[in-house]
Amino acid sequence: MNKIKILINKKNKSKIICLTAYSKNIALILDNHCDMVLVGDSLGSVLYNYKSTRSVTLATIIEHAKSVKMGVKKSLMIVDMPYNTYSNNFEALKNAKKIISKTKCDAVKLEGADKVVNIINHLVKNNIQVQGHLGVLPQSAKNFRFKGKKLSERNKILNDAKLLEKAGVFSIVLECVESSLAKTITKELKIPTIGIGASINCDGQVLVTDDLIGLNQINVRFVKKYTNITKQINSAIINFKNDVKNKKFPKKKHSY
Ligand code: KIV
Repeated sequence: MNKIKILINKKNKSKIICLTAYSKNIALILDNHCDMVLVGDSLGSVLYNYKSTRSVTLATIIEHAKSVKMGVKKSLMIVDMPYNTYSNNFEALKNAKKIISKTKCDAVKLEGADKVVNIINHLVKNNIQVQGHLGVLPQSAKNFRFKGKKLSERNKILNDAKLLEKAGVFSIVLECVESSLAKTITKELKIPTIGIGASINCDGQVLVTDDLIGLNQINVRFVKKYTNITKQINSAIINFKNDVKNKKFPKKKHSY
């Protein structure tokens, strides 16, 4: 069975684990634990301090994805298509093919619905595996408030999810979607939903790894920090610094 079928089969059986990676060493760790590893365009804000993911280029995401691929053997590897790289069928297919051929990833992720639905369908018809992304859409969002308060918004997101499923996506990320709406979408779709700030009602969860390990200094409601890696790195560096100052490093065993 291929990786996509294995993933879809997990729906209603076992929660799906997804985390972001931007480089090889983190990817190597994640690959032992994740169903999916996402090279997200969140790298724009996390690594490059961009105000928006819109500034992430195709070349940048490809370079990071090439590094991630060195660490991913088992998990399904997904790469975000950056803003402005899928504005029509032709551009989307050309750029999706470029991402896949250069990085050897399994799938790409596109944000939104409306005209993106037809573009996704075009990719799927050309044998590109696509993950959808609904709710808060960082590439176009005016604000990052959760989605699904108003009835009209709820109906649109549910309808968009169904349209994306029909267009052929194998899964949909729901970002900052109100809990009961996430539950309805998850129940009504045959494909898995992956939540980020979208409650326990999704088939799986994704977080930005740098957020959950406390490397990225972010404080938002939907992130749980599982460790404070910054503190651990700090203490290692202080120990190194002290050893060097006090001539305790390098010892004979570290020298030639
Ligand atoms: O860019 C990203 O990392 C993402 C996840 C947060 C879902 O899209």
